[in-house]
Amino acid sequence: MIPVTEPLLEEKELEYVTDCVESGWVSSIGKYVTKFEEKFSGYCGSKHGVAVANGTVALHLALAALGITKGDEVIIPDLTFVATANAVIYTGAKPVFADVDKETWCMDTSKIKEKINKKTKAIIPVHLYGHPCDMDPIMEIASEKGLKVVEDAAEAHGAGYKGKKVGSIGDVGCFSFYGNKIITTGEGGMCVTNDGDVAKRMEFLKDHGMSKEKTYWHDEIAFNYRMTNVQAAIGVAQLEKIDGFIETKRRNAILYNDLLKDVKGVVLPVEKEWAKNVYWMYSILVEERTKLMERLKADGIDSRPFFYPLHVLPPYKREGDFPVSDDVSLRGLNLPSSVKLKEEEIRKIVESIKND
Ligand SMILES: Cc1ncc(COP(=O)(O)O)c(C=O)c1O
Repeated sequence: MIPVTEPLLEEKELEYVTDCVESGWVSSIGKYVTKFEEKFSGYCGSKHGVAVANGTVALHLALAALGITKGDEVIIPDLTFVATANAVIYTGAKPVFADVDKETWCMDTSKIKEKINKKTKAIIPVHLYGHPCDMDPIMEIASEKGLKVVEDAAEAHGAGYKGKKVGSIGDVGCFSFYGNKIITTGEGGMCVTNDGDVAKRMEFLKDHGMSKEKTYWHDEIAFNYRMTNVQAAIGVAQLEKIDGFIETKRRNAILYNDLLKDVKGVVLPVEKEWAKNVYWMYSILVEERTKLMERLKADGIDSRPFFYPLHVLPPYKREGDFPVSDDVSLRGLNLPSSVKLKEEEIRKIVESIKND
C-alpha cells in the first residue's frame, strides 16, 4: 500500500534519542525540551515556545492561559479535526461554528461577524491541510471586538501568510507533532506566542500550576501537559530537516497538479496569492469519492476522506447553514502526501484516478 503519510526518521533522531537514554533524562526535564522550544518558536518567528504533550492540549492550554472559561463562546470553523472543538469544551466554553471558504476550505471570514455576541471571547482559525486562513480580516475583527485569536496550526508548520509564518500572527499559535504531521515527535505539540505573560501562564498551567518559589505549592488546579525530553529530541532532529520536507511536499503538489489538471470532475487544491501552502495533505475534491477510494485501494493506494462537518457529529449536532462545509466534506479526499513519496508513485496514483 502507498500510505497517506509516513514519517521520515533517520540517524539524527536515533542519535539524540540515544543521548536521552544514555544520560537518563527521559522525562520532561532535559536540554532537548528547551532547545526544541527555542528553535521551533524561532522558526515560526515567535518569541516564546511552550512544548506540550500533543496538539489537542496545546489548544486547551492556550485557551486556558488566555482566560477562556465557562459561559464564553469561541468561534471555530465547521470543517476541522474534532480536537479544535473539544479543546473549547475542556475550558467550559461553547464552540460556535462558522462555514468555510469554497477555495481554501478554511474559515470563511465573511461569516464571523454574524456569530459574535456578548459571550464571544475568541476565534480559532484552522489552517486546514496546510493552507493558511486569510488572517488579516480575522485580526481586524478580533481587534475591533476585543477577541483573542488562537491559531490552530496543527496541520500547517511553515505555511506562510503575507510573509509571516502561521502560528505567529494570533495571540497564540498551536501545533501538533503527531506521527503524520509535517514534523513529528511521536505525540507532541507546541504553543508559540510573542506575549511573555501568556507564555509564562502557559508554562505554569502545563506543570500542575506549581509555584516557582515554593515547591509543591499550588494556588490553582492546573494540568500535566508536559512534553518529554525524548519527544523533544526527535523534534530537534526533525526541525533540522523541515525546509527539505516542505520543499518536497510543494514539489509533489506541483507534479500532482500538473498531472491532474485536465482530469474531469477533479478540483485541485489552491494556493492563494497571499499564501504559501505547505500541502500537509495533498487534497482534491471529486464527484464519486467512495468509488474512487475503492479503486485506489484495489491499486494498492491508501487515501482519506475529509473530516465530517462538526455540526453533524453527535456531541456537536445542531441546525445551521453550512453549505460549503457540507459539500467539501462529502467530496474531499486526501491523497498520499508523505515526504517519502516517489515521482513514479505519484504517476501511478494519477493513472489510477484517471482509470476510475
Ligand atoms: C486541525 C487539528 N487540530 C488539532 C489537532 C490535534 O493534535 P493532536 O493529534 O496532536 O492532539 C489535529 C491533529 O491531529 C488537527 O488536525
